[in-house]
Amino acid sequence: MNLIVSPGAPLRGEVRIPGDKSISHRAALFAALAEGESLIENFLDSGVTRAMLNALTALGVTWRLEDECLEVRSPGWRRWKIPAEPLFCGNSATTLRLLAGALAAAGIPAVLDGTPGLRRRPMERIVDPLRAMGVPITAAEGGGAPLTLQARPAESPLRGMSHTLAVASAQVKTCLLLAGLAADAPVEVVEPTLSRDHTERMLKGMGVALEDARLPGGAAWVRLHPPQQPLPPLRGSIPGDFSAAAFLLAAASIVPGSDVLIRGVGLNPTRTGLLETLREMGARIEITHRREVFGEPVGDVRVQASALRAGRVQGERVVAMIDEFPAFAAAALHAEGISTVRDAQELRYKESDRIAALVQEVRRLGGIAEEHPDGFDLSGGAALGGTVHPHGDHRLAMALAVAGLAGVKSVIIEQAEIMAESFPDFVATLQALGAQVKVTP
Ligand code: S3P
Repeated sequence: MNLIVSPGAPLRGEVRIPGDKSISHRAALFAALAEGESLIENFLDSGVTRAMLNALTALGVTWRLEDECLEVRSPGWRRWKIPAEPLFCGNSATTLRLLAGALAAAGIPAVLDGTPGLRRRPMERIVDPLRAMGVPITAAEGGGAPLTLQARPAESPLRGMSHTLAVASAQVKTCLLLAGLAADAPVEVVEPTLSRDHTERMLKGMGVALEDARLPGGAAWVRLHPPQQPLPPLRGSIPGDFSAAAFLLAAASIVPGSDVLIRGVGLNPTRTGLLETLREMGARIEITHRREVFGEPVGDVRVQASALRAGRVQGERVVAMIDEFPAFAAAALHAEGISTVRDAQELRYKESDRIAALVQEVRRLGGIAEEHPDGFDLSGGAALGGTVHPHGDHRLAMALAVAGLAGVKSVIIEQAEIMAESFPDFVATLQALGAQVKVTP
């Protein structure tokens, strides 16, 4: 499908956004690790979370998802069954890396695979430390998926260990902590900067003995003590996805006359780097009704249009906005001056190479962009318009649409259906706010 975006119409009104993708993945998997019946509301129903749920079915877990309410019934991870076929993780590295840790604990043989895009993502970052714990796991030639886990005898527990990550990663951290459920001693993970801590919050909520701390210099440390009891079922409501709200924050900031209220947005500080960056650029963003939902900070966010200045992102901030560089780019294209991103090599390993793909598509729109090994420069104020391609990346597709909302000519995004991976109602939400967007086959 093509998405056609016509510029100019202000965005006004109040909207809800989908449940958080990262927390939905964890809620589904942790409910399956637990023994009994879990009930999760505001669950993100999308291609990537369905990949997780289908893999859980193959492990003998049953579930029902209706109107964003997920019921899960599981015998607990010690009684998962051996999957008959390779577990297909679609395009979702979160599904694959988190499942690898859980299957390592369960000790059952399995193959984890996905799309060609997923096969290109780096997996040695989980395979090497899992092997150090005694997990019989191998990657394909080249270090990526498919990953193959051999059976591990019940009488040989995994080894506890301390592992230091070269790059902050919540997927790798979570994978190792989950493997630690079956270890004979605590598992510790040290990160150069604290990545999203949804796993820590949810496991603590389930009564797992988990300690965490910030170390001098900004590093983060977490230690999981293997629980002796089965994990109890989960109950809770998933906060709105800040990473979905990010596109609305950027859009309402750059389209003159906009005024948007987004209710129930997850505001975990490990995720909200874009909020700080947009404020530094001059955005008008107000947060009200702060509360806690499912162990996570949540609030209502109002954003009004304003004249933005160029932004500069580097260092620690990169981790707290790791998924928000496409949304940042959309705002930067309409800010005054040259915005810069550095220290963000990790962007090359996301759903697309987000440095190369972004620069290429911005240029196609008539924008001025320059690629760097660890980031990019974007000039604001060019007259944008044209046809672009999202490189199979949901966030790139949405960012290009947002950039078009404040452009000069129409922007056409080809193969825009990929947006549904994290924000199935993106188009309907923009339309409800008054934006001129339409879909053609
Ligand atoms: C995620 C962690 C991040 C993020 C991804 C979701 C998670 O990946 O980019 O969209 O749910 O743990 P990395 O762990 O590779 O940084």
